[in-house]
Amino acid sequence: MSLQAKSTEVIIENLGLSFGDTQVLKGIDLTIKAGEFFSFLGPSGSGKSTLLRAIAGFGPEPTGRILIGGQEVAKLPPWERNVGMVFQSYALWPHMTVAKNVAFGLEERKVARPEIDKRVKEALDLVDLADYAQRRPSQLSGGQQQRVALARTIIIEPRVLLLDEPLSNLDANLRVQMRRDILSLQKKLNLTTIFVTHDQEEANTTSARMAVLNNGILQQVGAPIELYDAPANRFVASFLGTANILEGETKTNGELTAFLTSGGLQIPLKQGTDHITTIAIRPQNISLHAPGGSPSEAEIRFKAIVEETEFLGSTLRYGVKAGGETMLVDHVHKPGDRVFAIAEQVDMAITPDHVTLLHG
Ligand SMILES: Nc1ncnc2c1ncn2[C@@H]1O[C@H](COP(=O)(O)OP(=O)(O)O)[C@@H](O)[C@H]1O
Ligand SMILES: [Mg+2]
Repeated sequence: MSLQAKSTEVIIENLGLSFGDTQVLKGIDLTIKAGEFFSFLGPSGSGKSTLLRAIAGFGPEPTGRILIGGQEVAKLPPWERNVGMVFQSYALWPHMTVAKNVAFGLEERKVARPEIDKRVKEALDLVDLADYAQRRPSQLSGGQQQRVALARTIIIEPRVLLLDEPLSNLDANLRVQMRRDILSLQKKLNLTTIFVTHDQEEANTTSARMAVLNNGILQQVGAPIELYDAPANRFVASFLGTANILEGETKTNGELTAFLTSGGLQIPLKQGTDHITTIAIRPQNISLHAPGGSPSEAEIRFKAIVEETEFLGSTLRYGVKAGGETMLVDHVHKPGDRVFAIAEQVDMAITPDHVTLLHG
């Protein structure tokens, strides 16, 4: 294959960016490894697109540093950065054929015609559109148009591929197919890729690592499962799935430390942890049992009352009251399982290993 991506590291140092008086990115430090599929994940307005555009060279000049392959680029115009960006709205030329759309970047760079033809063919092969070269964008489905946009971007052999919510305009089934296609293309080309999404499933399924953003501040960086299992703070715990967040304080008695929730539950903790005022427990890490059973060695049980049940298909979600705490508990649903009724007295089991200590 001659479409050769130069796998390139991206380093962002103490990046800040303002629109007028409003600072929308604050103190971002991040390293994206060469060849990595990396996501920026966060709610709408958290600054994902602004950060991606700053890497591409669009928007106001940021403070701090951006290094692409060791080269400081924060002051370079977009066309000198050699990065490729794909937008949510495919931004294809409607009056040009697919082949012409894909060739455009090379024609602008005055590449010789035989080389252009060869690379257009390769790029269209890579996105499985070889048979569509002579069509116009309006004669293609949304997914095919998105693949043309990808082909048009990779043909310039960018050092980094930047994707801003590229799947948002596609219907649900196609989104799943496209994210696989994008991932397989990225692997084939070993292309450093930054994928912006507000959809945690998209980030989880594609990314080696991801950065969670909120209010222009980097919350946490890590592999999807790491972040899910060990969220650093309340925002990450709640944004990545569902979490019971409990307020309270740590109590130490000799060797033993426990977390005393404001609702009166006392949960033993593994090791001494000063100054923790918030913990999180995922609903699937709690279980309900008929009263009077014997807890396993790893768990601790509390009296609880079922207040709500919600059948979600693969899980049965309970809302229970234990002491002064209202908690969500998820049971994986299997036919024949005991289902607890509203107002029923139950024992709620928590395993201290599954308690996450939050810092902020
Ligand atoms: N051109 C602009 N002018 C002024 N404010 C902007 C501009 N673009 C984005 N913003 C603001 O910057 C913040 C981050 O926006 P954005 O990066 O688009 O978020 P996201 O992509 O995470 O949804 C938002 O508060 C948004 O209103
Ligand atoms: Mg955006």
